[in-house]
Amino acid sequence: MNKDIPSLCEVYKDYFPIGAAINLKTVVTHADLLKKHFNSITPENHLKWGLIHPLPDKYNFEDANKIINFAIENKMKIRGHTLVWHIQIPDWVFKDEKGNWIDKEILLKRLHQHIENVVGYYKGKIYAWDVVNEAISDKEGEFLRDVPWYRIGGEEVIEKAFIWAHEIDPDTVLFYNDYNLELPSKREKAYTLIKKLKEKGVPIGGVGIQAHWGLKGITPEDLEESIKKFSSLGIQVQITEFDISIYLDNNEKFNSIEEVPEERIQKQLELYKKAFEVLRRNKELITGVTFWGVADDVTWLDNFPVKGRKNFPLLFDIHHKPKRIFWEIINF
Ligand code: GLA
Repeated sequence: MNKDIPSLCEVYKDYFPIGAAINLKTVVTHADLLKKHFNSITPENHLKWGLIHPLPDKYNFEDANKIINFAIENKMKIRGHTLVWHIQIPDWVFKDEKGNWIDKEILLKRLHQHIENVVGYYKGKIYAWDVVNEAISDKEGEFLRDVPWYRIGGEEVIEKAFIWAHEIDPDTVLFYNDYNLELPSKREKAYTLIKKLKEKGVPIGGVGIQAHWGLKGITPEDLEESIKKFSSLGIQVQITEFDISIYLDNNEKFNSIEEVPEERIQKQLELYKKAFEVLRRNKELITGVTFWGVADDVTWLDNFPVKGRKNFPLLFDIHHKPKRIFWEIINF
């Protein structure tokens, strides 16, 4: 490993932990980068209901443990992701043996059991949990998403998830996590939800701004406004899934970074640079910044939303070398 390259998390040690989402593959293939530049990790998939609790009586902790143990060995912080989400969750959670929808009472019972087993199992290891992920609707006039969790259980699902997670591990900080929280309409809805939870005494400790950005849309100014607004509720703010796609629309396709026009690279660079200026300026309010991946060779944005398309959204390139963004972010 090149000694002339500073460690990202070392450079940011007086600001906030720097995290990366990792999976069973990258915990091995990206171990060197992780050990040098990151002091926090989030299992990208292995704590999600579908993988950790695939059947009513079956929990699979083995795979998640490979990631968690790597973090513990390397003295990294661990974020838990996630307990209540409408995706990557098996159908049986919401149905009875006959395939009919269950009622609220049974749903809450299942949720309680899940939280007891998963949060309980990792008690003392996971310092922050994304308790609820993406509950708020993107549709105008609709508050919570129209998905089984909230159709059956309403807001009580959210309240109980926080209450039970706190009962089981009072030391872990509990987050509401979502995308587009930088934009006015979703920011307002999230603010309303969190305010209500706080007023009821529900133990929510933070909000996770995912920050899956594109080159247009969300701006660093939007981010700053959201950080201030959420902090005013007396909760922590974290960036939980940061990456910036290199594309403007779904018709574009660059097969290698060399094919990406310079103005694009520049735009992505500017956005990252300005976002980090905002984050540093608000370091008293920010308790973590996590990227959704480590290097450009493995990113969830490959093939999404366009099949067969490569993306280049992170700080390290496909050969694990720091990109210009990296240098911009560490030179301040
Ligand atoms: C959302 C989820 C993450 C991940 C990404 C895409 O942001 O919170 O867990 O699934 O989508 O990979």
